[in-house]
Amino acid sequence: MIKIRVPATSANIGPGFDCLGLALNLYNTFVFEELDSGLEITGCEDEFKNEDNLIYRSFKYVYEKYDIMDKMKGLKIGIDTQVPVCRGLGSSATCIIAGVLAANVYSGLDLSTDELVLLVTEIEGHPDNVVPALLGNMTTAILEGNKVYADIINTPDELIFCALVPNFRLSTEKSRGVLPKEVDYKDAVFNVGRVSLLVSAMQNNRIDLIKPACKDLLHQPYRSKLIDGYDDIFNRAEELGFLGVFLSGAGPTIMALTTDEKKADALRDFAKEMPNGWNLYKLKIDKEGALIEGI
Ligand code: HSE
Repeated sequence: MIKIRVPATSANIGPGFDCLGLALNLYNTFVFEELDSGLEITGCEDEFKNEDNLIYRSFKYVYEKYDIMDKMKGLKIGIDTQVPVCRGLGSSATCIIAGVLAANVYSGLDLSTDELVLLVTEIEGHPDNVVPALLGNMTTAILEGNKVYADIINTPDELIFCALVPNFRLSTEKSRGVLPKEVDYKDAVFNVGRVSLLVSAMQNNRIDLIKPACKDLLHQPYRSKLIDGYDDIFNRAEELGFLGVFLSGAGPTIMALTTDEKKADALRDFAKEMPNGWNLYKLKIDKEGALIEGI
């Protein structure tokens, strides 16, 4: 039996569309056991207890890619989730990583970190959730051809990540569907400046630079229209003096950064009175990434 713990993630971080992401101390845990044959899944809704399950598909992807399907046995998967589903906190990435890491153990392939990073990125389609979920910390990553170039970015320890999670879901597919096919040159220049400033601010502990750096013109203006309450939360966080506010991944979760517990509590009090039951999770960066806890 193996137990794998994978952190939630927040992708994009404002200007870093499809490249920046960070891992958070909120976790999904998966227990795997090989069977002689068949598939048994517990801990999720009935509609996911079949071969279409993302954890199982990710597990099988490894055996198919390395052409070792003859080694694949039956599988039992137990799921214990803390990460809200379809909210922009990387719940799908946790499933992909768990499936791939379990396959790496049971197949005996002993894949390197670079190979694992490529596999999980291929399955997800973009690297900004799966890379921090696997490695921990804040990360930057790009996929070019069949290679992922990724690195870890240090972050100030005192940052509190306030994840404001509404009671409604928003699929990544729908949220990507409202993005334009082309962007204005000025908007691209706006983001390039800010993404480089954000990396530098985080790496060098320049908390004063985070706020201007977190702005975005490539995805948030289009997606905000899908999220009832977006403007109210952004405006309130601004009034309270938060260090940066951005859409977490494809949304609908909104992330607000501060070093001040009292500001976090004030935003929580505001959000819980709003329609759609917004709940605030006070989170910190996870520095360990995915962990295999028992073999
Ligand atoms: N970078 C992705 C997006 C993250 O914004 O669509 C969601 O998976």
